Amino acid sequence: MTTTTTMVEVRGLAKQFKSASGAPFFAVKDVDLDIRKGEIYSLLGPNGAGKTTTISMIGGLIAPTRGDAKIGGYSITKQPLEAKRTLGVVPQEIALYPTLTARQNLEFFGRMYGMNGAALKSRVDEVLEFIDLTDKQNERVDKFSGGMKRRVNIAIGLLHKPQLIYMDEPTVGIDPQNRRRILDTVVRMRDEFGMTVLYTSHLMEEVQEISDRVGIMDHGEIMAVGTVGELIQKIGEEDMLIFRVGTQAVSSAQLEKLKTVEGVTSVTYEQVAKTTNGEGNGNGALPADGRVVARAKRGRQALPDLIGLANTDGIEIQSVEVREPDLEAVFLSLTGRALRD
Ligand SMILES: Nc1ncnc2c1ncn2[C@@H]1O[C@H](COP(=O)(O)OP(=O)(O)OP(=O)(O)O)[C@@H](O)[C@H]1O
Ligand SMILES: [Mg+2]
Repeated sequence: MTTTTTMVEVRGLAKQFKSASGAPFFAVKDVDLDIRKGEIYSLLGPNGAGKTTTISMIGGLIAPTRGDAKIGGYSITKQPLEAKRTLGVVPQEIALYPTLTARQNLEFFGRMYGMNGAALKSRVDEVLEFIDLTDKQNERVDKFSGGMKRRVNIAIGLLHKPQLIYMDEPTVGIDPQNRRRILDTVVRMRDEFGMTVLYTSHLMEEVQEISDRVGIMDHGEIMAVGTVGELIQKIGEEDMLIFRVGTQAVSSAQLEKLKTVEGVTSVTYEQVAKTTNGEGNGNGALPADGRVVARAKRGRQALPDLIGLANTDGIEIQSVEVREPDLEAVFLSLTGRALRD
């Protein structure tokens, strides 16, 4: 049952396509999904995971093979008009009229939503202000960078003041400055307007940064759902503490001693070949750099004791790095594959 705190409720949603050879396959396999009002929910998954197919069904752009979704309580199959009115859409492909200005594009799409007159004009002013393109509003969008075009696309999604907006990989192929603005915009939609955001990406860093909850998707299935912290906890991943020790030798007796520090589960020594990126003498004969790698559940707590023990035992530490587990580690643990291409 839909409660007042639920914005999207997806049950058993599936989509069958035909592959190039004509063989049917499920791009989305009976997905269940609950998105709460006012949260940023991200679907994280690699290319072909089924993210676009899932949200295209939620947005009423393609019909599900089976299953249903409710947006704000409205069924996408039984009350599609009401469901669509609740939703703003920022598609993966930028869709704008190139020869029109930013303002003209917004007015055109606004009229498609049934807006007009003074109400349309003031709403266009508002969304231009929100995406910070007021001063560029009268320029043709074919003169815009990809990032600016994307921002106009976001503004279009906001025109009819939807409670929910979905954004399909809005930062892909966008320069860092515009990417930063877009991510800030997503957070502001939640914080200033109380909107719910359904976000998709294959980029672990940004999903980790902006999301209240994340659904990890692969091969048409949602493998796990939770906050970033919950997902990391679920796989029981440990911190990695990396001590660079240069060319000095470290004995297994010294490693054994480090292993006695509370919370530490393993300590290993490895050599990393130095790269000759322009600094070497060209014959590749640089000595390898050594590093001691300790693993612990709460790495930062074990750190002082590890450093103290290393010092008294004659291990000269040149630098320390604490690497906390991230969504990449979660994805690897769930699927056995790396998220990155
Ligand atoms: N209209 C279609 N006909 C046939 N196969 C399709 C169709 N649309 C998508 N697919 C296939 O369904 C699978 C899921 O595609 P989808 O676009 O949903 O993935 P995605 O997670 O959005 O990936 P991307 O990161 O590439 O956008 C892929 O194997 C894709 O090739
Ligand atoms: Mg996609």
